[in-house]
This record gives sequence, structure tokens and C-alpha cells, in this order.
Amino acid sequence: MCGITACAGSDDVVDAVLTGLKNLEYRGYDSAGVATLTEEGIGVHKREGGIDRLVDVVDDSIAGRLGIGHTRWSTHGAPTDENAHPHTDCTGSVAVVHNGIIENYDELRGELSAAGHLFTSETDTEVVPHLIEAELAAGHEPEAAFRRAIDRLEGSYAIAALIDGTDAILATRRGSPLVLGVDGDRRFLASDVPSFLEFTSRVVYLHDGDVVRLATDGHEVTDADGDPVDRGIDTVDWGSEDAERDGYDHYMRKEISEQPDALERAVRGRIADDDRDVVLEDFPPGTFDGISEVHFLSCGTSHHASLYARQLLCDRGVPAHAFTAGEYATTPAPVSEETLVVAVTQSGETADTLASLRHADAAGARTLAVTNVVGSTAAREADDALFIRAGPEIGVAATKTFSSQVAVLALLVERLTEDVTGTPSDDREGMLSALRALPSHVGRVLEESTAASLAGRYGEADGRFFIGRGVAYPVAREGALKFKEITYEHAEGFAAGELKHGPLALVTRDTPVFAVFSGRHDTKTLNNVEEVRSRGAPVVAVASERNDRVLESVDECLAVPETHPDLLGVLANVQLQLVSYHVADLLDRSIDKPRNLAKSVTVE
Ligand code: M6R
Repeated sequence: MCGITACAGSDDVVDAVLTGLKNLEYRGYDSAGVATLTEEGIGVHKREGGIDRLVDVVDDSIAGRLGIGHTRWSTHGAPTDENAHPHTDCTGSVAVVHNGIIENYDELRGELSAAGHLFTSETDTEVVPHLIEAELAAGHEPEAAFRRAIDRLEGSYAIAALIDGTDAILATRRGSPLVLGVDGDRRFLASDVPSFLEFTSRVVYLHDGDVVRLATDGHEVTDADGDPVDRGIDTVDWGSEDAERDGYDHYMRKEISEQPDALERAVRGRIADDDRDVVLEDFPPGTFDGISEVHFLSCGTSHHASLYARQLLCDRGVPAHAFTAGEYATTPAPVSEETLVVAVTQSGETADTLASLRHADAAGARTLAVTNVVGSTAAREADDALFIRAGPEIGVAATKTFSSQVAVLALLVERLTEDVTGTPSDDREGMLSALRALPSHVGRVLEESTAASLAGRYGEADGRFFIGRGVAYPVAREGALKFKEITYEHAEGFAAGELKHGPLALVTRDTPVFAVFSGRHDTKTLNNVEEVRSRGAPVVAVASERNDRVLESVDECLAVPETHPDLLGVLANVQLQLVSYHVADLLDRSIDKPRNLAKSVTVE
């Protein structure tokens, strides 16, 4: 949802800013721009379209040692050259890039326009350079002008500004991500670490309200009151190769293939050698004593992983609910100190999830973030954090992070079951040994999948339905989400039993149905399959290779290795990821950057 970058160094930084933007393109790709401080003042290039279009127009005229950049996912105003960032003030002496939403921009724009400022875009961001301009004109020094300007803003923002006549980039964050990278004397700023991973893995996580000065010889962080603060330097264990395409046509395909390794990391050291117990470093037995129910808050794919975990908990006698975060933030469910609220979020920056987490926290619940990003807002704001260790995910479509979320949530489920009910789950050992085997089972799915050959037959259809029960239900929802997200073709996921309550009216011979079987509740799902087959719909089952009853009842099957029924959904989901991927590829879609979407949704 927009990416910002900045770089300060002793040589020209334009290439570093453009590289950083390219690496952040998954956050938005409808326009892009760069500004530098040159000997002649501030130079700006910006264009509608992706970074490649911007690169085509950037020339030596903007060589400079301080630079800022932006890749946009439109919220206010269409994707045009004018609305692309950086935005400048009336004199061209201030340039600003922004990620987030300035909620009071209408009022500020009215006030500034009345004072004679001329606006050239439809964006909320443009008020910022004009506010800084006004403060400079009132006689304030650049840093004071910057602080006074941001004090006027309501909403969420990460902002970086260049002001002519200064020797530093000024930046701040409130509610939107911003991290700093340290590489010798060179400094980077970005919305996300992969932006500068190829230059450095040394990272400073900024806090809300911090103001950072990025100069050609170092940086300084001050808090909202202007007092210096030491935020420390962390080293991330992601390498730049983790964020590269590595010979694959698409990041999504690479990330699908990475699932065995990601799962290995997710469970490594977290299962006792005899498979009898969970070893979660910060969550020993008894951690959740006193908890009586669990609420999951999340969006999109993370919501499907949460639904999965909810099924596991309910099966084990632990009351659990999974809410979409946007709805929860609007109508929060009642909580108490006995409620554990788990925010499940790959990025740790999804605005809806953060808003709902804050509601739950304010209402007195205990909070836990399950996330991929160390240092993310969710990880910092929740009482505790549990990391899924999936490594960077660049494709907008979430793939490996779903599998890793489910694996880590399954471990959490086992810990919660024992703490909440007083006894371990009935088949904990079976579940934990299946989790240990999950990476190799996913590896087999990847090697043996026939999804590519099937894709040619299911690309053209009036629509597709995905159905399942128990843990297969969230997988059906996830299969449909992935399909529509990257193929732009219609697909819906349902609880298998719901089909007959309305959607069945849409089922014809031109609406293939993908039926996911976990090995539990199969008889009922087979009944639903018969309902759609009798209306002529072709059925593709996704089921265990040993599930003869299912295999004999359907037209086509995507088989997966036999495993614990609670984990079969993870394997089935990999097959559905491959189906979506291959159909999207045949349709020549923009797989890594689907239209209208962005990787991290930092607005509500
Ligand atoms: O970073 P998060 O897990 O909080 O993101 C939530 C959703 O925006 C995300 O899962 C989205 O649905 C995926 N891009 C779908 O593939």
C-alpha cells in the first residue's frame, strides 16, 4: 500500500533509491517517483506506471547525495503523473513522499488554499510540503518546520521530506511502517526491509512519533518531543537472495516452492524430540493459564489461516472465534482478561488488523501477534509475538506464509489446549509428528502435482466454486481467494454445507467445483459433491492419495500424501495454489502484482 524509500550517502544515491523502489514494488505499482537534492535545488522525476517507466525518464540531472522515492497504490486521486509522489510545495523547495492516509487533508487544503498555496494534485499528501513551506515562511528552521507540519496531521503516515538548503532527509512515522538501514556511512529508509536488503541487513526499527535525520554521514533519531533516543541496530537474518526471483518466472512460483524450507524453519526447535510436547521458547506450559477463550483477528489469507486454527481449537474443546479484522474494528466482540486475542498478520502492518488489535487491547484482553516480520507494528504493540519465520514474501498473493501460519498456529493450538482445558489434546503426538513431516509432504506435492495439466481445462468457465468442511473449509476459501486474486476470474469458496442454501442456483456444467477433503466429514462432503454433479458440474477433488472412496467418486483428483487429517488442508492448499498459478500464467496475468492490489494494506 505505497512504498517509500530514501537514501543518504557520500555518492550519488539515485540508483540506490530506484533499486529500493524496485524491491518495494509489491506494495504498489500504479505510479512512481524520485526526488533528490542537487546542486541546483530539488530535482523530481515521476510517472504513472511501474518503476520501469520511471527508470526510463530518470537522467543525470537529478544526481544527488540525498534522495527519496515512492511507489504508489492510489487512495486519493487516480494513478496519473500529477498524483504520483514526490509532491512539492509552491516554490519547489520541499519534496515529500508519504505512505498512509491524512484524514484531515480536506480541512488543511482549504486553509492552505485560502492562504494562497497552489495545489497541482488530488492527493492528501500534497498538503504536507505546503504545510512545511508555510512553516519555513513563518521563519522556522527546517527541522522545526517539519515537526510543526506533521503536528498538524491526523491519520496514519510514514513521511520522508527533502528541504532545499538542508543537509539531511527528515522522516517520521505514525501508524505506517518505516525502517532504517545502516550500511557504513550510507543510510536507507524504507517501508519494508526487503527494499534495502541487498545493501544491508542492519536495521533500526523506528517507533511511532520518532523523527529521523538522515545525513550523508549518519543518522540521528529523536522522539516526538525532540529528545534524542537510541533505537539500537538489529541484524535481520533474511539475505538478499531471499528477496530475489532466483530463476523463477514469478516470485509467487518461487515462494510456492519455498514452502518446504519455510515450514522447516517454522517448526524447527519447536517440537520436543519425542514429538510429545511443543517447545515454544517464550510460551512454556502454563503461559495461557487463566485464558478461557481465543479470538483471532486478521484479513484475507491470514483470516483463512485463523479460521483453520479456530477449527483446531474448537475440535479440542477450546472456545475460539475468528473475526475479519475490519469488521471487528467496527463492531468489536466483548472481551475480558480471560480472552486471548491473536492478531494473525504476515506483514504485521495491516491497518484493519492493527485497529482491531488496539480495540481488544484497550478493552482489557491479552494480546498476541503471530507475524512474519520482526519489528513490525503488530509485533511491537501486542503483549507477545510469535514469529512464523517464512522469510520475505514478495508476491502479492500470500502462499508460503499461509502454510507457515497454519504450522505455527497448530503449535500454539497444542499449547493453548493444554493450558485452557488442563489436558493435552487427544492425539498431540500424532499431530506433532505430522507437523514434523509436513515439509517433506509439501515437497512431494510440489514434485508430483498435476495441477499444471489441469489448468488448461479449468481456465475458461462461468465461475468456480471451492467447497470443504472442517479444516478443509478455510482451505476452500483460500483456494477461491487465490484464484480470483491472480486470475481475475470469478471464484467463490464455501462451507460445503452452505452450497445448497443459495449458491447451488449458480451451479451448471460450466462451473467447475473444487472439493477439498480432509479425511474427516467426507461422507457429508461427498453428498454435496453429488448435488453439484447431478447439475452437471465437473468436480475436482483434492484429497489424500489413499482416500479411495473420494477418488472413485469424482471426475478428477489432485492427490496429496496421507497425513494427519488436521494438516491435510495445508497440502491441499498447495495444490490449489498451483492451480491458480498455472491458470493465471496461461491467461498471462500480472501474477506477482495483480491489478488493484498491494501486498500490505496500511489503510482501513
Ligand atoms: O499482512 P497481512 O497478513 O495482515 O495481510 C492480510 C491480507 O491483506 C493478505 O493476506 C491478502 O489477503 C493476500 N494478499 C491474499 O493473497
